[in-house]
Amino acid sequence: MSVGSDRLDLVVAAVSEEAPGIRHVRMRRADGGALPPFTPGSHIVVEIPAGRGRARTLANAYSLTGEPREPVDYEISVLRCPTADGGAGGSEWIHELAVGDPVTVLPPRSSFPPIRFARKHVLVAAGIGITPLLSHLRSHARWGHEVEVIYLYRDGMGAHADEVARLGGDRVTVVHDRASFLELLPERLSGQPIGTHVYTCGPASFMDTVVDIAVDTGWPDSRIHLEHFGIDALDAGDPFTVTVTDGPTFEVASGTSLLEALEDHGIAVPNLCRQGVCGECRVTVVPSDDGGPLHRDLYLSEEDKASGSCLMACVSRALPDANGRAHLEVKP
Ligand code: FES
Repeated sequence: MSVGSDRLDLVVAAVSEEAPGIRHVRMRRADGGALPPFTPGSHIVVEIPAGRGRARTLANAYSLTGEPREPVDYEISVLRCPTADGGAGGSEWIHELAVGDPVTVLPPRSSFPPIRFARKHVLVAAGIGITPLLSHLRSHARWGHEVEVIYLYRDGMGAHADEVARLGGDRVTVVHDRASFLELLPERLSGQPIGTHVYTCGPASFMDTVVDIAVDTGWPDSRIHLEHFGIDALDAGDPFTVTVTDGPTFEVASGTSLLEALEDHGIAVPNLCRQGVCGECRVTVVPSDDGGPLHRDLYLSEEDKASGSCLMACVSRALPDANGRAHLEVKP
């Protein structure tokens, strides 16, 4: 199965063990040609072939950890999650890659960029959540931006810990246990200069904690930025109704995606990742002045989302209007 005409066919150039259970993979064009540059915080979608227990081709998003400008390689670091591979996983396949193996990816997409005119950037990561923030830090180090890093990981298990220390120097604080982190974070988030933005990535419960502490210490939502690990971080969502133009109207229940509901009604929508990262299941929405799509994907641009004229059917839902009615009209 293809993930689109703009897919890139790469080969593995190097693999290494970044930390226990975390594989670092470098990929490049077979002819050594240039790769598209990317914005710090970007990810690529890797196509994971069916087979070896996978019923269908998967498409997983991984943050790019390497150099964003004129990259020769795309680099990712992937935590092995053996239990996930029967479902939406694929990390086992990444961990089995060897030098010379072919890999198909979609070009980089940005859904977690640094804020351009921020006065200061505070990066808060846990575990493998350091990966999208590493390219942020790389960029801040190059341009001399004011930055502070708080990195929580189990002692001896820190991915890219040496690189983070080299790039951030004395602006990096490492903590190895949750109690120390909970003691440290309120203090660090208090008294930051106006115009500072905070960025966080890690397990959902970790990011919830960071957001709670940030809000408690007076940070507005507009200066708090989160990077989720795909659909695992999403809740079941509220029910809503959908009308298919020139077709039926039906309810999409909590825990059922719009994509599944359309399929249940015999309406086929191209799809691949079913995690809001590949862009295959884009559906046209009839814009409305009230309510509209509740976007939960990592694919659409901010402009696309603001237009209210499309959504990714595998993860996104409907916002209630002023009367509390959540409804969309779509043209699959
Ligand atoms: S199937 Fe990939 S974004 Fe929906």
